[in-house]
Amino acid sequence: MPVLDAHQRPLRNLRLSVTDRCNLRCQYCMPEADYLWLPREDILQFEEIDRLVEQFLILGVDKVRLTGGEPLLRRDLPELVARLGRKPGIKDFAMTTNAVLLAQSAADLQAAGLHRLTISLDTLQRDRFIKLARFDELSRVLAGIDAAVDAFPGFKIDTVMIRGVNDDELIPLLEFARERRAEIRFIEYMDVGGATTWSMNQVYSRHDMLAAIAAHFGPVEPVRESSSAPAERYRLTDGTVFGIIASTTEPFCKSCDRSRLTADGLWYLCLYGARGVDLRGPLRGGVSDEALRDLVTSVWRTRTDRGAEARLSQRERSPLIPVSALRRDPHLEMHTRGG
Ligand code: GTP
Ligand code: 5AD
Ligand code: SF4
Repeated sequence: MPVLDAHQRPLRNLRLSVTDRCNLRCQYCMPEADYLWLPREDILQFEEIDRLVEQFLILGVDKVRLTGGEPLLRRDLPELVARLGRKPGIKDFAMTTNAVLLAQSAADLQAAGLHRLTISLDTLQRDRFIKLARFDELSRVLAGIDAAVDAFPGFKIDTVMIRGVNDDELIPLLEFARERRAEIRFIEYMDVGGATTWSMNQVYSRHDMLAAIAAHFGPVEPVRESSSAPAERYRLTDGTVFGIIASTTEPFCKSCDRSRLTADGLWYLCLYGARGVDLRGPLRGGVSDEALRDLVTSVWRTRTDRGAEARLSQRERSPLIPVSALRRDPHLEMHTRGG
């Protein structure tokens, strides 16, 4: 039985950030000119990650997702994938990547035991990509997507939809995914740490996205399923399935079973959480596995976080965290927490 939090939500889903570095600068995530990086000596070694993951698995976690920054920037990543891929407790082992470096590593990752892949893609237009992500990398991303078609059939594409930025690509992106048999999920722009230029009028809501998709493709039918996943899934009349993640207008905190471990071993119970629990300290301080599990259990049992719902209840919304605070603590950044 997994450990339950104060709202009866199980500890099941662990997101592991393997680096805070990224080779893109997406406007909704890393829009500033400079960033403070986590000190190198604080970054967990593969053996340390392995030991922590093992404790989470014993406590009931069975879904693990590798994130970044950009996870493919972590040296020897397939080695970590192979270590974790051998663990029978992981029923679902996935990774989220921007795909810039994927073409050369997709087959290795698959062979090392990664089950599923999600690729971030917000535009199909080269000029817009450069504006949005600050690097001229669309062609490498598309090559990475070609590699994913072969190595991870049925992979997912995550698209953050922003009004006035890429909202005119809703239909072309859906068609692009359909042609590659990928499941695309449109994500509402969130006011997470790092989204320093966020404003409510840039949020393209699920309601409006569904209306635009139905106007183009005809009736859209909800896929009936019960899960704790953030995406609501829908089906077009030709059978194409897509998802919408409405974390801004209709948050899913009620069933949220996910937590996040940063690359330097801080454990966050919510994407919006202000403070993480230091697991690196005890780990390096020589505590036993049992003591680590006791710490995780006691923290999870008192978890009450409902960050996105709390944000929704605020009348006046502006970026969550001022730039000055982000400069003092990189842990507040979305790219440190892994999206
Ligand atoms: P699947 O297991 O494939 O369904 O994964 P997932 O839906 O958890 O996928 P992914 O990691 O791709 O998450 C998609 C997006 O949902 C993220 O990039 C975030 O924008 C958003 N998201 C993920 N986790 C949270 C969360 O805990 N809270 C909120 N509000 N949004 C989240
Ligand atoms: N709003 C919504 N999603 C975001 N991501 C990062 N920043 C934001 C934001 N402000 C998510 C995207 C991206 C992944 C790495 O993190 O899904 O693809
Ligand atoms: Fe973009 Fe992901 Fe890098 Fe953030 S971490 S800048 S969302 S590619």
